[in-house]
Amino acid sequence: MDGALISISGSHIAANSSRGTAPVLDPHGGVTHDDIRKAIEASRYLMLPPEKQIVDIIEQDFSLDGQSGIKDPLGMSGMNLEVGVQIITGSTSFINNLTKCILKLDIPIDGLLLGGLASGEAVLNSDEKQVGIVLLDIGAGTTDVAVFKDGYLLNSWVIPVGGAHIDNDIAVYFGTSRAEAERLKIEHGRAYMEGVDDSDPIEIDHVGGEDRTQVPKGMLSQVIQPRVSELLRIIRGDMENNLPPTVLPAGVVITCGTALLDGLPEMAEEILGFKARVASPKYNGPFSDKISNTFSSTAFGMLSWAAKHSVRAGYSAVPPSDSVIHNVINTITKFFKGFSK
Ligand SMILES: Nc1ncnc2c1ncn2[C@@H]1O[C@H](COP(=O)(O)OP(=O)(O)OP(=O)(O)O)[C@@H](O)[C@H]1O
Ligand SMILES: [Mg+2]
Repeated sequence: MDGALISISGSHIAANSSRGTAPVLDPHGGVTHDDIRKAIEASRYLMLPPEKQIVDIIEQDFSLDGQSGIKDPLGMSGMNLEVGVQIITGSTSFINNLTKCILKLDIPIDGLLLGGLASGEAVLNSDEKQVGIVLLDIGAGTTDVAVFKDGYLLNSWVIPVGGAHIDNDIAVYFGTSRAEAERLKIEHGRAYMEGVDDSDPIEIDHVGGEDRTQVPKGMLSQVIQPRVSELLRIIRGDMENNLPPTVLPAGVVITCGTALLDGLPEMAEEILGFKARVASPKYNGPFSDKISNTFSSTAFGMLSWAAKHSVRAGYSAVPPSDSVIHNVINTITKFFKGFSK
């Protein structure tokens, strides 16, 4: 394998705003890739405690001689280039341990990418990013939040709560295993109870016993709802703390495994106060039946980002074409087929 792009998440992840400037070496010839790289490089001198390190630097917008809001300054004439960035930081020991494990497998690491950003890459459209959108990547152990506005990442953070916490609540309440709790959640769980007749009985397997009991479906929802409500309230509180008061997102997009929890978008609309939709990657190429589901958002977003990055090797604003993504997927498929022979 030539290299791997690694998705990273966890509550140790934080985003910090920074700015960098660089002189344009040939003001008449226009801004070059090198000038852009130097401005981004200059933004990384952020005071960080030793236990934190930079995971990624995500550029927002550029200014040229004070003219702000420029998306792609390449070729523009000017003297002084400035870039606004979000610097994503994470725990040094977490990153060291993660990278050590991968390097032990002799896999070179091409880069680290925040899981929530990868998922956003897969499911958000450019209009949503422009108008203002909150992306929720709700997995098993964590919820990655990424807020986009004016076409770029405004802020991002990770909450250590996900679907596994719901399983745990169910397991404790009904005295059942985590696996049975997850099955109950997936087959019968519902986050939002309004207007639903939930007196139907469901069967539960108990830990260590042969007996199965029947409980009304609504009882399961009563266990699920407080955890989901708590998560959404944490998100609402974090948004109040982490976003400028002028930013009013147009909606919330929910993806990854826990996005499939019945009633979640309704509850998100009620607690966050925006329109909510559940999203999966839009893709019509090979294996589309496997890829077009909420589970694949992070992986598909990583591929799409990697494809875009190779296209962007020179900061072209060209989005990745489906054929570039097909190529990446075909290469990976061949790799795994090679293993299974
Ligand atoms: N139909 C469903 N309804 C509710 N939850 C579901 C459903 N299908 C899967 N899940 C839950 O989705 C979660 C897994 O999602 P995902 O694969 O996105 O997580 P992950 O990426 O492994 O975790 P993390 O991002 O936290 O590291 C599990 O908690 C699983 O129980
Ligand atoms: Mg995940």
